[in-house]
Amino acid sequence: MPTKIEKDAVSGRETTGHEWDGLKELNNPLPSWWFWTFVATVVWSIGFCIVYPSWPSLHSYFPGLWGYSTRDGVTADVAALAAQRAAVLDTIKDVPIEQARQDPALMAVANTAGRIAFANNCQPCHGAGGAGRPGYPALASDRWIWGGTLSDIQTSITYGIRSGHAEARVSQMLRFGIDGVLKPEEIAAVADYVLTLYGKAPPSQASAKGQAIFAENCVACHGETGEGKREVGGPSLKGAVHLYGDTSAAIIAQVTNPRMGVMPNWNTRLDPATIKALALYVHALGGGEK
Ligand code: HEC
Ligand code: HEC
Repeated sequence: MPTKIEKDAVSGRETTGHEWDGLKELNNPLPSWWFWTFVATVVWSIGFCIVYPSWPSLHSYFPGLWGYSTRDGVTADVAALAAQRAAVLDTIKDVPIEQARQDPALMAVANTAGRIAFANNCQPCHGAGGAGRPGYPALASDRWIWGGTLSDIQTSITYGIRSGHAEARVSQMLRFGIDGVLKPEEIAAVADYVLTLYGKAPPSQASAKGQAIFAENCVACHGETGEGKREVGGPSLKGAVHLYGDTSAAIIAQVTNPRMGVMPNWNTRLDPATIKALALYVHALGGGEK
């Protein structure tokens, strides 16, 4: 304990009596701005603890005088958004889908609502903008497995494909390899033929043999020349756009053990107006048919 108050020779101020290596600590008062800021933060924190949720208790917490809750805030925001969207969707809800397509104002609604619903629900499988991904068909092209009119698209979305819904679209390719319908060399030959349909290889002796196998086993679903058959959901095998790969190995894998992709039915997850907006949106992606 210092016994007497010392003064610093240079500044003339009192020292605290603490000394380190000849340096003495001056007993300066706190700057007033610092002191009052400190007092203000204390007052603020007490006020904060009173009006906002603050002190925890064993099973709950003190909710604060204002009853503020971020969860309530989110719930209210979500409800407001849903109401806003429902109000927007209401404008297309009762208009027949064909008529909505003719109306630029309603199409603007459908495009916005459809784009959002598509990004939320469809994009993981069908890719951004419906560009398609391996195993999931492109929706922005004019190559349709089941059909590209508004009502075709609406039906595909509503009930799905192999979704298990009673009204789902269903098609099934035979398991030619696994079930021993075709021998491996026959499957290889038919793959050579399919490659010519894809435009990936010129006709050859092997593909000629494959063509005969195709005529016997495949035309029922894929059409005489591989053009596809919508009535039975057999995809076109012509051209460059495909569900699965366009290599010999990918075709052999498909013919050996078809994958049978599943498209969920959306009638249990989305309301009819949203499905209508989605159908209009998908139809307008570029491949819509009259
Ligand atoms: C879990 C993946 C998945 C999701 C999610 C999905 N789809 Fe599909 N969809 C598929 C598959 C797989 C097919 C092709 C089925 C087949 O082999 O016929 C398909 C087919 C379609 C078709 C028929 C295409 C044609 O060529 O006839 C439409 C239209 C379609 N989907 C729209 C949508 C829309 C709109 C959504 C979002 C609401 C959606 N899909 C979400 C997997 C999905
Ligand atoms: C009973 C109907 C049916 C028959 C018969 C059939 N297919 Fe398919 N095929 C389908 C269906 C449905 C799909 C799409 C299913 C899927 O997702 O696996 C498909 C898909 C394909 C694909 C993939 C197309 C793509 O876009 O990637 C190839 C290749 C193919 N079939 C080849 C054949 C060949 C070769 C034969 C004859 C040996 C054959 N199919 C016989 C119904 C059939």
